[in-house]
Amino acid sequence: MRNWLPFIFLLASCSKPVSENCAGSGLYTKASFPIGTAFNLSDAAEHPLLTQKFSTHFNAFTPENALKFSTISPWPGVYDFSEGDSLVALWQDRARIHGHTLIWHQQLPSWFAQYKGDYKELLQAHVRTVIRHYARNIRSWDVVNEALTEQGELRASPWLEQVGEDYIYLAFKAAQEADAKATLFYNEYNLALNPRKLDAALRLCENLRSRGIRLSGIGMQMHIGVSYPSREEIAFAVEKIWRAGFTVHFSELDISLNPLGNKKNFSEADFQAQAAKYREVVEVYQQIPRDHQFGITLWGIGDADSWIPNYFNRVDAPLLFDAHYNPKPAFCAFQNALK
Ligand code: XIL
Repeated sequence: MRNWLPFIFLLASCSKPVSENCAGSGLYTKASFPIGTAFNLSDAAEHPLLTQKFSTHFNAFTPENALKFSTISPWPGVYDFSEGDSLVALWQDRARIHGHTLIWHQQLPSWFAQYKGDYKELLQAHVRTVIRHYARNIRSWDVVNEALTEQGELRASPWLEQVGEDYIYLAFKAAQEADAKATLFYNEYNLALNPRKLDAALRLCENLRSRGIRLSGIGMQMHIGVSYPSREEIAFAVEKIWRAGFTVHFSELDISLNPLGNKKNFSEADFQAQAAKYREVVEVYQQIPRDHQFGITLWGIGDADSWIPNYFNRVDAPLLFDAHYNPKPAFCAFQNALK
């Protein structure tokens, strides 16, 4: 029995009741804008609770990896949309599906670097093919993702190297020609943390508009930490974006408890601090005029499914539900902040 005690204690502490009270009812039913999340088909297949939580709390969905170039194009000019199609078929009746992402420097197909054809044509054909395939089910797209450096310069993306500076314009142009009514986004990280990058993103988007691109909004990824950026920094960035006439999407929200990777486990105080940060994020988002709100999308549901531990090789617990899909203090704070 003695050997079991720590285990029992661990279980008890995992399912500790949250200190802020909240109803178990659907998050999205309390929000005046869509509440989304992201996952892969395999996550949905492996975790029935994930699907259950998704149905209860979310009314928007971003395929996490299913629409990325490396996922859908095994060979040049060849497309396999099966994962994206399955996800769309599963959720289209009850969730708005947001397309992520057409042109990005990561998750490119393995054949990309050795491609012998014309990269400009490849870019245009790729954007056209994906948007047209999903034209009936996906009405909004992250057309270009993470094109800027922290210095506000164009990142040395393979697309920049192969196509030149105009690759961003060409991607948006192809997108609007493929679907004249789609809602088009530029998606980027650290916009609240780094005013220089924010200004560069605004310049980029304003320039695209001045060249006739119908760019609706800016996706602020919001992979943030429990103590950064501050409420004021988030509010400043958000306000600058909507006042410039763009819709704001918090497109990939998660709040790291361990951004420096120096923690091995988390205390109740950490979870409360995380809850307070989630509350701030929701409160700031609700200060945006309704017609400039696209929605808040979390980057996952339960902590065990988060991309952060694998990608950054550290323990973390950045989402609203724990590894067993129990609501965390963050969930209640998020729900109670919605009005
Ligand atoms: C991440 C996925 O969540 C991971 O599964 C994958 O291994 C790497 O990409 N910015 C983005 C997202 O725009 O597409 C990334 O998603 C997270 C960072």
